[in-house]
Amino acid sequence: MQAMSVTASLPALRPFQAVRSARWVPRARVVMSVRSSLTISAAPILTKLQRDCATPLSVLRHVADAMATDMRAGLEVDGGSDLKMILSYVDALPTGNEKGLFYALDLGGTNFRVLRVQLGGKDERVIATEFEQVSIPPELMSGTSEELFDFIASGLTQFAQTETGKFHLPQGRTRELGFTFSFPVKQTSIDSGILMNWTKGFSVSGTAGKDVVACLNEAMKRQGLNMRVSALVNDTVGTLAGARYWDDDVMVAIILGTGTNACYVESVNAIPKLQGPNTTIGGKTIVNTEWGAFSNGLPLTEFDREMDAQSINPGEQIFEKTISGMYLGEIVRRVLVRMAEDARLFGDSVPEKLLMPFSLRTPDICAMQQDSSKDFEAVGSILYNVAGVNSNLSTRKTIIDICDTIAKRGGRLAGAGIVGILQKMEEDSQGIVFGKRTVVAMDGGLYEHYPQYRMYLQDAVTELLGDEISKNIIIEHSKDGSGIGAALLAATNSMYEH
Ligand code: BGC
Repeated sequence: MQAMSVTASLPALRPFQAVRSARWVPRARVVMSVRSSLTISAAPILTKLQRDCATPLSVLRHVADAMATDMRAGLEVDGGSDLKMILSYVDALPTGNEKGLFYALDLGGTNFRVLRVQLGGKDERVIATEFEQVSIPPELMSGTSEELFDFIASGLTQFAQTETGKFHLPQGRTRELGFTFSFPVKQTSIDSGILMNWTKGFSVSGTAGKDVVACLNEAMKRQGLNMRVSALVNDTVGTLAGARYWDDDVMVAIILGTGTNACYVESVNAIPKLQGPNTTIGGKTIVNTEWGAFSNGLPLTEFDREMDAQSINPGEQIFEKTISGMYLGEIVRRVLVRMAEDARLFGDSVPEKLLMPFSLRTPDICAMQQDSSKDFEAVGSILYNVAGVNSNLSTRKTIIDICDTIAKRGGRLAGAGIVGILQKMEEDSQGIVFGKRTVVAMDGGLYEHYPQYRMYLQDAVTELLGDEISKNIIIEHSKDGSGIGAALLAATNSMYEH
């Protein structure tokens, strides 16, 4: 078991470092100088890339409309579209009245987090909270289900043993846990669900097709830990619940980190595939779209296609592979390799280190884009560290342009996806989102740490909705809300009265 650290770094994204200067360099200046100094042979590759990645308003509109159409088809029947539109069984959101000690476990990337929170009801709200983060050894991401769950349960057990006086469990009660499991799960109830497939580079054997709560329960039993899973939630659902605890206008939650996904508040009578009597309060529930699997009409390049073909899940998660943190750096790397091969971007040979998949990471391309120094020294040193090459000014500028092209496409498409969800909600019941303040809770390292990406996302939302309507749509960063959200949902679904 690795030592636990109490850092708040992001699941599966190395914390974005080397953001050397917060000063914003106007893009136009960089773009103009790049044009004049590009080598002849790299220029056509860049131009083609920019053309293939272009997201004019017509493309954004198409994506937003197709997202709304796919949502409807996925609500109609399972398998009706790329979007799984998973029922979360979260029919009641936290009200603020929740009281007591609750735990949360968050598994969604290369780290998992454990958290406990003491809730004090309407007046005291969150009395105390404590969390720890543990990184998952890479070999466990492709090991067996038992190994992974044993590792997690052991971390949780150690954490539970450090419960101090601030946290109080009434005598005779079992500890309750909200389990955030950030992969596509077909929920069978609020506290059970079957893993459909792994994403984000996980390929653990023996979990797909199984109830992940049963996997965790068995592992907790092996550790001798007595804890009850009261709620199994996706990270988007946890984020929505966590944000809604403070703000009633939250209707949508998005994760833009290593992976990506969205959930939203839906009326049960807009879900034809939901059979049986409607037992929800107010006729609302949360639907987990699993929008990472969306693929309709995306502007893709040969680099995306090659990356997809060589991935561990070819043909799947195409939206995720175009807009999320796990992949943006890798797409840029592939463009660089092509430029090195066809345009001798780094001289006579292709740098060997650059040939390694995923050696250039999204935090690297983000840091390069923040470089506002005259000679783009940070770009030079990142390139040196990642690829072992020295670069001249012209090469560095070309690279910034590539990063910008890929981040711009990602951010704008993510914005179009958000508008697609809002559009669908508004079409079903007019005035529900566009006629009032509506909050989109957002979390994930990509959104948090990549200012240009954030800006492109917001631009696309404004372009699509226009100034008036977009003023009502508040995209709000809800940092690490999914952990607290899962604990709150454990409270809402507690077996004890609260
Ligand atoms: C998973 C989602 C998750 C998202 C963000 C995707 O790869 O399929 O379930 O919500 O990543 O973590």
